[in-house]
Amino acid sequence: MITGATQVCGVIGDPIRHSLSPVIHNAAFAAMGFDWVSLAFTVPAADAEIAVAGLRAMDIRGVSVTLPHKALVVPALDQMAPSAHALGVANCISNNAGVLTGHNTDGVGFINSLEADFDSPIAGRRFVIAGAGGAARSIVHALGAAGAKDIAIANRTPGRAHDVAVLGGKAARVLDGDALVGALTAADVVVNTTSVGMGDDAAMPFDPSPMGPSQVLVDIIYDPAETPLMAAASAQGVRTANGVSMLVHQAAEQLRIWTGHTPDLKAMMTAAADALAGG
Ligand code: ATR
Repeated sequence: MITGATQVCGVIGDPIRHSLSPVIHNAAFAAMGFDWVSLAFTVPAADAEIAVAGLRAMDIRGVSVTLPHKALVVPALDQMAPSAHALGVANCISNNAGVLTGHNTDGVGFINSLEADFDSPIAGRRFVIAGAGGAARSIVHALGAAGAKDIAIANRTPGRAHDVAVLGGKAARVLDGDALVGALTAADVVVNTTSVGMGDDAAMPFDPSPMGPSQVLVDIIYDPAETPLMAAASAQGVRTANGVSMLVHQAAEQLRIWTGHTPDLKAMMTAAADALAGG
């Protein structure tokens, strides 16, 4: 039951009504027996900084931050945690007795999901990353920090891939079209961060035919649950995962930051899967 003592957290963005974050957060609170609630707040871009100041005024304990606010909230924060500082964007704000800190949990969420789902360490492994948007930036930064051996980035617009490679340190490099087949053959893990294959899009961002059963493909799209790229790779014996696990693991990191406790991942995963299945 929600009472005067219930702690409030949530998600800000615009649009936000279809966000899975409250579903995932509230499933965790129920499983943990926490008197907390998570709500979705529609915040127009022009009001980002006012909304952030409101967190302090209303003692809202934390929010997830989604488009278009990830960069817009930064000037209103008191400090940035290291990953958010490196990336220049926050996907999470914590309010600790009025001190507002920006965090970025996408990268650690990706790494934790890979380790949990495939028992796959990062250090010494070879990665191919397709795409160079915000998700690619978080993932490449986290892989570089975790000691990946090779991070090869392929993007339709090569200039953006160069900007992303800078975040990955000395293991990161930009792939030109001709080098993609060799990189796909040699990789331990291939990640699609582009929007190709989302919704009704039947296209694939690249041809996965060089890949085989010793390799992992992660497509960070979660609608549909199996993208055309995942289906094609799976038909060749590649082990595949969609983006639900990364989504849940990055939310788990946010809950850890806000509450100081490790949430029940299984309850969160079930809630996300049910919501995506329309249940
Ligand atoms: P996010 O922040 O969610 O990661 P984004 O910043 O919109 O997303 O980036 C989308 C990515 O998908 C980009 O890498 C984009 O390539 P460009 O940098 O060349 O724009 C990629 N992308 C989108 N549509 C694509 C398409 N039809 N073919 C190839 N890549 C595409």
